[in-house]
Amino acid sequence: MPLRKNITLHALREMHRAGEKIAALTCYDATFARVLDDAGVDVLLVGDSLAMVLQGRPSTLPASMDDMVYHTECVARGNRAAWIMSDMPFGSYQESPARAMRDAVRLMQAGAHMVKLEGGGWTAPTVQYLAERGVPVCGHLGFTPQSVHALGGYRVQGRDEAAADLLRRQAVELAGAGADFMLFEMVPAVLARELTRTLSVPVIGIGAGSGCSGQVLVLHDMLGLKLGVSPRFAKDFLSGAAGIEDAVRRYVADVKGGRFPDDALHGY
Ligand code: KIV
Repeated sequence: MPLRKNITLHALREMHRAGEKIAALTCYDATFARVLDDAGVDVLLVGDSLAMVLQGRPSTLPASMDDMVYHTECVARGNRAAWIMSDMPFGSYQESPARAMRDAVRLMQAGAHMVKLEGGGWTAPTVQYLAERGVPVCGHLGFTPQSVHALGGYRVQGRDEAAADLLRRQAVELAGAGADFMLFEMVPAVLARELTRTLSVPVIGIGAGSGCSGQVLVLHDMLGLKLGVSPRFAKDFLSGAAGIEDAVRRYVADVKGGRFPDDALHGY
């Protein structure tokens, strides 16, 4: 199979400008990285969700920097062309921009092309610090899993007008600080669509409806693999597919064709 061209930040911005949806999936190892890359996934997210789906923990909080570096290295070895985004784990960026930079360096040296961190305006100085020093950053807003206890569980964010306004302000602050990408998790589809139109940077959604510039799912949810309950916005693409690579190709085709997610099933 001919190798596709590297998915760079420039290429992702071009997709966004052209209205082509960005297909992302979480990925934690070399073999899946090769399968996902071959199947045309644009962005491999080495998510701190690995604490839950690989390690069987109850939340993403226990993911360590060493875990993230190890899995980023594994993914980078298997990947050929996709853009690799790695999560900054809980505790790595809350303290100071300089501490975040030290940990972002570890992820970039492990093979990440971009780091993702969770939270609103308080992260703007860190986003700016990293961006000015050559680290592409994705801001993660809406439901932020590292704050699951503070948020009172897995809850949709931005439902009422005050919460929606807060999200609007946070998104503008992070984009202004230099975030190259934004990720919205579990926010009302109408709000995510509005914010995607307003922001100049690509917005990846998860449980945020079809109006975002791209979509991401946790790989295990997309393959129908369950340790606990799957989120209701997830879809099992393996069911009815000829195998894993076919399931991933179907996911990519459905995201790019605007068939996934289906707002009629979104529910908020
Ligand atoms: O860690 C992860 O898998 C994530 C997704 C939920 C977006 O951050």
